[in-house]
Amino acid sequence: MAIFRSLEWSGNALRLLDQRRLPSETRYVELYDPESVAEAIRSMVIRGAPAIGAAAAYGLALAALNSPAVQTSDLIRDVEKAADLLRNSRPTAVNLFWAIQRVMNKVYANHETTCDKLRDLILQEAHKIAEEDIRANRQIGQNAQPLVPNPARILHHCNTGSLATVDYGTALGIVRCAFESGKQVHVYLDETRPRLQGARLSAWELNQLGIPHTVIVDGASGFVMRKIGIDLCVVGADRIAANGDAANKIGTYNLALAAKAHGVPFYVAAPTSTIDMNIRSGDEIPIEERSAEEITHVGKERIVPEGSPVLNFAFDVTPAHLITAIITEAGIAYPPFEESLARLMDSGG
Ligand code: MRU
Repeated sequence: MAIFRSLEWSGNALRLLDQRRLPSETRYVELYDPESVAEAIRSMVIRGAPAIGAAAAYGLALAALNSPAVQTSDLIRDVEKAADLLRNSRPTAVNLFWAIQRVMNKVYANHETTCDKLRDLILQEAHKIAEEDIRANRQIGQNAQPLVPNPARILHHCNTGSLATVDYGTALGIVRCAFESGKQVHVYLDETRPRLQGARLSAWELNQLGIPHTVIVDGASGFVMRKIGIDLCVVGADRIAANGDAANKIGTYNLALAAKAHGVPFYVAAPTSTIDMNIRSGDEIPIEERSAEEITHVGKERIVPEGSPVLNFAFDVTPAHLITAIITEAGIAYPPFEESLARLMDSGG
């Protein structure tokens, strides 16, 4: 287990490790209402698809705990209001919508129970979502091992470790599992402009775990493949369409193109809660655009001249034809993904 947790329930509050302050400060914030949870997701105190899904589930538990309702129908109305608020916090990661829907299904299935019982059921569902995420990540790590040679030079984008999940991680969970099973791994971490999840967060995690790594600028990945050699790229995902197109942190698509050009396998690792079978292709994935300041400023310093417009897509979509395989807790899907993902989801994903 990691010595830190991206999130934890403290009895009457949700504690989040404030990821905006890492690596210089390890500070937790305590949130007591769904409004603060939605704001923490929006401002990226917590980030990463599975982590924001679990946080939103706890946000609904807070809504239920805080509600003064004595009638179950009034409690449901208060929880629905919080669900709307949380759904509007970030648009791309489907885990957010998946987790909220899962809790709401529990709510609707128990609309005839007492308020206190329903409050408890909502909290239990949030705990289940969190626990299942950890199990899924460990299973993803195990499932991927036949694809990880020994030794392995691995290229990774963004942060997909314990911080981006409830614990262990998806793509970085695969790295961790390889390392824990005695493989010699070296991870090249894209710094991941503009929020620097690779440089700030992935490097911080790998440092704590003692996993050998090197931070590179995003633009270096092609040259690192050519000059040093990379055995595989592995990244996470925020939403995977039924045809295998995968949305992930901006820059992932460029990395996949470079991998294709160099004959490097390109793997996407994600729990099945990231697969959105309701959309046929990546064209239907809503892509978040974030504030210009993320690009124009580094810290407090402006680095782009006043008057120069910027475009800040937070995510991109890697087309399925650039993806070698999609690794989930329910198994590994290979192209054609329309068929393999459908099979995998039917088999219990
Ligand atoms: O904007 P972020 O930091 O929330 O983006 C995170 C990513 O793109 C991750 O790769 C993805 O959520 C998978 S995390 C297991």
